[in-house]
Amino acid sequence: MMDINAIKEVVIKAQNFRFATKEFDKTKKISEEDFQYILENARLSPSSIGLEPWKFLVIQDEELRSKIREVSWGAQGQLPTASHFVLILARTKATYDADFVKKHMEEVKKMPPEFAESLLGRYKDFQEEFGLLDNEKALFDWSSKQTYIALANMMTSAALIGIDSCPIEGFDPAAVNKILEERNLLENGEFAISVMAAFGYRAADPSRPKTRSEMKDIVEWI
Ligand SMILES: Cc1cc2nc3c(=O)[nH]c(=O)nc-3n(C[C@H](O)[C@H](O)[C@H](O)COP(=O)(O)O)c2cc1C
Repeated sequence: MMDINAIKEVVIKAQNFRFATKEFDKTKKISEEDFQYILENARLSPSSIGLEPWKFLVIQDEELRSKIREVSWGAQGQLPTASHFVLILARTKATYDADFVKKHMEEVKKMPPEFAESLLGRYKDFQEEFGLLDNEKALFDWSSKQTYIALANMMTSAALIGIDSCPIEGFDPAAVNKILEERNLLENGEFAISVMAAFGYRAADPSRPKTRSEMKDIVEWI
């Protein structure tokens, strides 16, 4: 086991190394093993009530990448150059009574059916209190919020092994969903685009040093 101070140093170094990479070196590909490691970090991410309301589409098809590029102003340099380009989808209908929730509790979480049943009542109250049950947009955004945790874990785990990345929200969601729907990639409306992420090796170092607010301006101890 590495010394704890050495681990802290490695993690903070990785956070400083990571920057929103606009263009990747096209000649460098992430190894399959390294990309599996990044995906594993997504898979192990936490999510509210453990629903894992996400799906990761790894878009390696050049034609599909260029179609997506037409409607993604924030990924102009990344789409043609990234070693791996991921569309993170979020569930559109993750209500407590959805079929997939029951299946997930029994088959993935291995809960006994009676226990799963009793939990669903609590999930109902929670989703009501959060205003998710009568508002489609709020419901999708709740799933979408979970995907950003996976996104962050993917980027941090990548940075820890010297892989660059860029989170991307610069796209027209309706247009991206249309492209994906046409290829039957949204499971009949069960999923929609949440956020994108590009991975690879930087073409050049960042042009400006990292800037952040000071700790005293963002943290308040009470
Ligand atoms: C959710 C999210 C969406 C973003 N969308 C884009 C994008 O579409 N295109 C882009 O080049 N950068 C995008 N960024 C990168 C941010 O601009 C960048 O993280 C921020 O300016 C801080 O810089 P740094 O990541 O290099 O430290 C996005 C970042 C986040 C977290």
